[in-house]
Amino acid sequence: MKIAFVSSEVYPYAKTGGLADVSGALPKELAKLGHEVKVFMPKYYPVSEYEYNLHYDNYIGEMKIHIGGISHNTHVFHGYMPDSTVDIYFIHNPHYFHRQQIYTDNWDEDERFILFQKAVIESIQRMGWSPDLIHCNDWQTSLIPLLIKDNYNWDKLFEKTATLLTIHNIGYQGRFSQETLSKTEINGKYFYPNGPIEMEGDVNFLKAGIHFADKINTVSPTYANELLTPEYGAGLDNSLWQRKGDFSGILNGVDYSIWNPEIDKHIPNHYSINDLSGKSENKKFLLKHFNIKYNPNVPLIGIISRMVVQKGFDIIAEVLNELMGLEAQWIILGSGESKYENMFNVLVYKYPDKIGVYIGYNNKLSHLIEAGADIFLMPSHYEPCGLNQIYSLKYGTVPVVRKTGGLADTVQDWNEYNSYGQDIGNGFSFYEYSGKALLQSVNRAINDFHNKLIWPKIQYNGMIKDYSWHHSAEEYNLLYKRTFRK
Ligand code: ADP
Ligand code: GLC
Repeated sequence: MKIAFVSSEVYPYAKTGGLADVSGALPKELAKLGHEVKVFMPKYYPVSEYEYNLHYDNYIGEMKIHIGGISHNTHVFHGYMPDSTVDIYFIHNPHYFHRQQIYTDNWDEDERFILFQKAVIESIQRMGWSPDLIHCNDWQTSLIPLLIKDNYNWDKLFEKTATLLTIHNIGYQGRFSQETLSKTEINGKYFYPNGPIEMEGDVNFLKAGIHFADKINTVSPTYANELLTPEYGAGLDNSLWQRKGDFSGILNGVDYSIWNPEIDKHIPNHYSINDLSGKSENKKFLLKHFNIKYNPNVPLIGIISRMVVQKGFDIIAEVLNELMGLEAQWIILGSGESKYENMFNVLVYKYPDKIGVYIGYNNKLSHLIEAGADIFLMPSHYEPCGLNQIYSLKYGTVPVVRKTGGLADTVQDWNEYNSYGQDIGNGFSFYEYSGKALLQSVNRAINDFHNKLIWPKIQYNGMIKDYSWHHSAEEYNLLYKRTFRK
């Protein structure tokens, strides 16, 4: 099939979270299955033509993209995704995309992604390429199904084009005031109370995608079930109920050419399931980097995360003193809400020989933490899929997680799963969203860390699991076929 894969972030060009990892890996796997895939993303300021060998696409040329009647000159750079022949197209409009951050809270955030989506559609038109399916990801791309069904339906090129929307995180919906409607140039008939693109008087991009995409999926089976409940649906559970027959969950995969301790190019000592000695060397290296004394008998707990409520930082805050009282060391990497950044910065002053903190984004350090830590903490309030716990499994870094979404689908609690004689426990999990439950599970993990019979078994159970993209890409393959037939 001919697939247009549209995403606001793609690794290695631009990344704020797991969406980039998925968009960097899945298109290449789909190409291996025989699909013709073209990827589209915005050309943000740091994406360098020289570094990635990108070229101005003469064939597409200069486009005039309309936002509320005003036209914006836009063009496209073309390249190939690393180590592959998959085409990637970068929508170039410096006015909108040359900013400090990928996502902003600027007044024209709506315009940035209206321009992106229309420019994707118009680039496809100029190529004269008729995709069988447009795969949209999150709110930044979720007007596309409606745009091609309505605004661009005069073009026969899209006559047979099906659309799939993947929801990576319902917490981000692209909600803007009513004025945004005229900027999109979408027909006003779709905007009415509780209608397909309206929510409490606002325009809601994600809701439009849920309504108009031919199929919808999310990134784990458990999150798909959770999204149908008011507790997790963030106001869109009813919209999803209405599309229940077209809605499913596919667990994300992992790109083991990047996240694998045997070949990881960011870590000083490689290791494998058969010989974990390199892991202790990485722990030494990591602790030295933060000026913390290495002690093989004290477990090192790692956190790599956007510092937002979604990721469970409020329950960490609840029991912070108790956590710091445990016989453990900590390395924490992340950025986000300043109250959480400050909370950890203060801890470094209080416990300099116990905790190392890096506030910011640091790809190399994220690999080092996976390779050097003993335990990985991810107590998310909700988690559509979560990738770091899956990386942790591969790195023999035992995850402690809250049992929700993709965390529930990938981490089996050691105590729970061994009591049935299944012997497949690969981590620790808790269900109740509270500091107390979190603390209990961290305690269980620390106790078992000291049990030299049990711990290697837990690590082994995680390391042998295969979450490569191959399986998930097969599932997308089937979903694409179902979507196209519809
Ligand atoms: P989410 O997409 O919700 O942030 P995921 O677990 O799916 O959560 O993916 C997060 C990705 O972003 C992982 O690849 C993780 O290593 C990376 N990441 C998160 N925070 C940082 C950071 N501060 N520095 C480097 N990488 C980070
Ligand atoms: C989102 C989710 C995360 C998921 C990622 C990739 O950012 O928060 O759970 O792994 O998208 O699908």
